Amino acid sequence: MRFTLSFLTFGLAAVELTYALPRAYQQPSRRSSVNVLDDVLVFDAPAFDDPANPGNTLVQLQAYVSSRQLDLTPLLSGISGLLNKTLKLDISADLDRAASRLALFGTLPLSGKDVTVNVNGCGDAASLPPTDSGMAIQNLTLGACTSGNASAANSNGVATALGTVKLSAIDARAPNFTVFPSSADGFGVISDIDDTVKVSHSLDKLLLAKATLIDDPVPVTGMPEVFKSLAASLNSPQFIFVSASPFQLYPFLRDFIDTTYAASNGPIFLNNLTTTSLTEIVDFAKNDGIFEYKSAMIDRIQGMYPGKKFLTVGDSTQKDPETYGEAIRKYGDFIACAWIRKVDGANNTDERFAAAFQGVSPDKFKLYTDDEIPDLANIDVAGGSCS
Ligand SMILES: *[C@@H]1O[C@H](CO)[C@@H](O)[C@H](O)[C@H]1NC(C)=O
Ligand SMILES: *[C@@H]1O[C@H](CO)[C@@H](O)[C@H](O)[C@H]1NC(C)=O
Ligand SMILES: *[C@@H]1O[C@H](CO)[C@@H](O)[C@H](O)[C@H]1NC(C)=O
Ligand SMILES: *[C@@H]1O[C@H](CO)[C@@H](O)[C@H](O)[C@H]1NC(C)=O
Ligand SMILES: *[C@@H]1O[C@H](CO)[C@@H](O)[C@H](O)[C@H]1NC(C)=O
Ligand SMILES: *[C@@H]1O[C@H](CO)[C@@H](O)[C@H](O)[C@H]1NC(C)=O
Repeated sequence: MRFTLSFLTFGLAAVELTYALPRAYQQPSRRSSVNVLDDVLVFDAPAFDDPANPGNTLVQLQAYVSSRQLDLTPLLSGISGLLNKTLKLDISADLDRAASRLALFGTLPLSGKDVTVNVNGCGDAASLPPTDSGMAIQNLTLGACTSGNASAANSNGVATALGTVKLSAIDARAPNFTVFPSSADGFGVISDIDDTVKVSHSLDKLLLAKATLIDDPVPVTGMPEVFKSLAASLNSPQFIFVSASPFQLYPFLRDFIDTTYAASNGPIFLNNLTTTSLTEIVDFAKNDGIFEYKSAMIDRIQGMYPGKKFLTVGDSTQKDPETYGEAIRKYGDFIACAWIRKVDGANNTDERFAAAFQGVSPDKFKLYTDDEIPDLANIDVAGGSCS
């Protein structure tokens, strides 16, 4: 996702002269609850057994609170002008669509906001610490939750629970999110999004801009079927999507995963790019910390599910081979297997993969071409095979 980030940051940087990102943060000392003038986004969240308290469930909850007042016009005109100039891409006919995909970039993050949620079937309401630059993330206790409740599973058999945000009595909105609980053992799947499960054209700026802003999202052919088959063969594994895309693209990506990968739905971890300054965004992109970011997300997942085994799925456009190779060296059998899609135009040299998977047994990873995608469903990952 490096190029999406670069493209967006490039876009935003160029717009800086005419448009400043919202800067007026609410001071953290001024703590308050979410009110009718605020928007709250609670990300779909993984839940896990509390190692310290058997029978207790923890949820790793993340929320973003921003002001409802937003004016996307300057941002959009800046971006469309830039795209026209640099990529000869005219998005004037698709401004509404681009606006909805970029909307979170135009929000004003609010600090000091308290978010409290309830989760169906669980005993305790859970309160996050006050937001910092719009964001709050923490492991929270949900008390005892009814598990293995078939009627609480979604229509695809994935056992989930509906969470709702507590708002004031005069606020008629009912923002909700999905909690994905999973047992301490069994399997999980960690997957990249761009060019692994979704066609994003990460290596081509023009096509990437279109795929991100305008086009209907398209799955990598055959992957929804492969993931559906994994959902069955790995006995409802915990799917977690980890992408270095900025969290501002969450509504777009979540909608895509929720519909196109309904049978293998799960939480989506995105990059926490909350900033008041465009310069910071640019620095963030320059710093190219994708390997570090993804490794940190794998650490996070390992902390929640140390007793599970994970299949990791990614592609050769960015740092997935290096990240997954490192995770295998670090965590051993916690990573059961790594699959890497060889994307045309990316660095698919033997030299690269040998370096990425140095010291890793060849039966712990598989590089695949698009022709081989249908065969992935026949690999007995549950039985210990990787290729
Ligand atoms: C795109 O750029 C061309 C050439 O600079 C200009 O003529 C045209 O009006 C621009 N279109 C839009 C939608 O800005
Ligand atoms: C997200 O980034 C902001 C700004 O760097 C920081 O203040 C905040 O603590 C971070 N939040 C999380 C959840 O990492
Ligand atoms: C199962 O979940 C449904 C929906 O959340 C709830 O109405 C029902 O009471 C639950 N049943 C049991 C046995 O917990
Ligand atoms: C959750 O919120 C969405 C968006 O507002 C809404 O369309 C959906 O019906 C809600 N789901 C439930 C189960 O309430
Ligand atoms: C949540 O708990 C897991 C498991 O104990 C830990 O690895 C992780 O760092 C915690 N995350 C936060 C944000 O507290
Ligand atoms: C491919 O990756 C290897 C290992 O990182 C590197 O040495 C090589 O220069 C790269 N080749 C190209 C064409 O980028």
